Amino acid sequence: MVAAAARMELLPPVLFLFLLLAAAPATAAKFTCNSTAPRANTCQALISYTPSNATTTLAAVRALFQLRSHRGLLAANGLPPSTPPPAPAPSPVRVRLPCLCSGGVGATFQRPTYKVRAGDTLDAVARGVFAGLVTFQEIAAANNVSDPNRVAVGQELWIPVPCSCDPVAGQGVVHYTYVVPQGSSVAGIAQEFGTTEETILSVNKMADAKSLLAGQVLDVPLRACGSNISNTAIDRNLLVSNGTYILTANNCVMCGCSSNTWQLDCQPTQGLSTSACPVSKCGDMFLGNTSSTSTCEATKCSYAGYTNTTSFTILANLTTTNTCNAAGMAPTAQPEHSSAFRVEGWRWTDLVVSLHVVLLCLGYLRQD
Ligand SMILES: *[C@@H]1O[C@H](CO)[C@@H](O)[C@H](O)[C@H]1NC(C)=O
Ligand SMILES: *[C@@H]1O[C@H](CO)[C@@H](O)[C@H](O)[C@H]1NC(C)=O
Ligand SMILES: *[C@@H]1O[C@H](CO)[C@@H](O)[C@H](O)[C@H]1NC(C)=O
Ligand SMILES: *[C@@H]1O[C@H](CO)[C@@H](O)[C@H](O)[C@H]1NC(C)=O
Ligand SMILES: *[C@@H]1O[C@H](CO)[C@@H](O)[C@H](O)[C@H]1NC(C)=O
Ligand SMILES: *[C@@H]1O[C@H](CO)[C@@H](O)[C@H](O)[C@H]1NC(C)=O
Ligand SMILES: *[C@@H]1O[C@H](CO)[C@@H](O)[C@H](O)[C@H]1NC(C)=O
Ligand SMILES: *[C@@H]1O[C@H](CO)[C@@H](O)[C@H](O)[C@H]1NC(C)=O
Repeated sequence: MVAAAARMELLPPVLFLFLLLAAAPATAAKFTCNSTAPRANTCQALISYTPSNATTTLAAVRALFQLRSHRGLLAANGLPPSTPPPAPAPSPVRVRLPCLCSGGVGATFQRPTYKVRAGDTLDAVARGVFAGLVTFQEIAAANNVSDPNRVAVGQELWIPVPCSCDPVAGQGVVHYTYVVPQGSSVAGIAQEFGTTEETILSVNKMADAKSLLAGQVLDVPLRACGSNISNTAIDRNLLVSNGTYILTANNCVMCGCSSNTWQLDCQPTQGLSTSACPVSKCGDMFLGNTSSTSTCEATKCSYAGYTNTTSFTILANLTTTNTCNAAGMAPTAQPEHSSAFRVEGWRWTDLVVSLHVVLLCLGYLRQD
């Protein structure tokens, strides 16, 4: 009987004591999120999750966070679209979830949820299952649990992972929810994620870098790639950070971001039925096509957003880039045509490449 599983379970007194002790160092992370403009109080947040064991698969991560698609999980991690669900998850793995600002703080919107199992404590759920992304106090408050020691087996808990949609210094950024590993420094984190110590301290309202604690949930603003998306497009707020890509325009367009150029690089999504996706062109060129006009200049048919007022339309516009001045990029490394993102984009991490090789060896990937 289903009803029998939902009866109230009392936790043993020993656990109660443990919860009291654990409560002391746990500082509830609240990310400032005061975007209030219409539709701007929601965004896509990026969350860092470190699985508790090395054998955790992408499928398990997708299930834990109730991600709508496997493709979306691959995109958030810059993994090739052919990576199968049983592949091991990178550690940490990046999870993209909708974030909602409410009352000046941000939390992931409605997801993830967790169904309480026999023997669970809120603290074990917070620190064990969700790797410290939330505290048990935050779970208790979000779910109106007055006594954290009394949770019903089978009860569905919303896990409010802190997140933000606020611009930083007037720029749109991707806020990365990051659980500080042992031995980290603010300077090290700033360098790793391409931001500054001052930015991290001010966004997290920290007095000084010495107050950083291992296990602290930090808001790390990640620079997003610039784009030519029109102000009137539905996805005008599209923010994509280095090493990730995103599917937009009803999944018809795939846009990547690399710190080589800091320009959003969009292509029609491969392998999607073209009947569902309108063709997007700039004159003779298709979306994503590039032509070299001179040694140092390339003209590209760039993504300009999508609209759906009279019909579903994917906009594109010609842009000209100086390929010689692109930071850290030799002219020869500049994409010759639109396949650049698909082929070269996967060099984003060594991890990705080695995973790919392993999967090829295992025969997981289609050879097409
Ligand atoms: C949030 O709002 C307050 C007051 O409205 C403002 O002082 C503060 O700068 C805002 N924070 C951000 C990050 O926008
Ligand atoms: C690793 O985690 C998975 C769930 O993600 C679990 O099913 C499995 O039992 C765990 N393995 C070990 C050795 O803890
Ligand atoms: C939370 O619980 C209190 C006391 O049981 C109740 O009055 C209140 O309506 C509940 N709030 C929500 C949002 O469920
Ligand atoms: C395209 O976007 C870049 C910034 O990302 C900007 O410098 C450039 O002027 C834009 N081009 C057009 C034609 O809007
Ligand atoms: C294309 O670029 C031109 C010139 O920069 C601009 O006026 C126009 O609004 C752009 N169209 C779209 C759909 O972004
Ligand atoms: C476009 O709008 C129509 C009517 O509002 C809707 O049914 C359809 O799903 C929309 N298409 C996309 C791609 O958003
Ligand atoms: C232009 O784009 C189309 C559609 O994405 C693609 O099939 C074609 O290979 C591209 N051509 C060049 C020269 O990049
Ligand atoms: C961008 O990502 C790549 C790998 O994904 C990394 O090597 C590089 O340092 C990152 N750049 C910045 C500025 O974060």
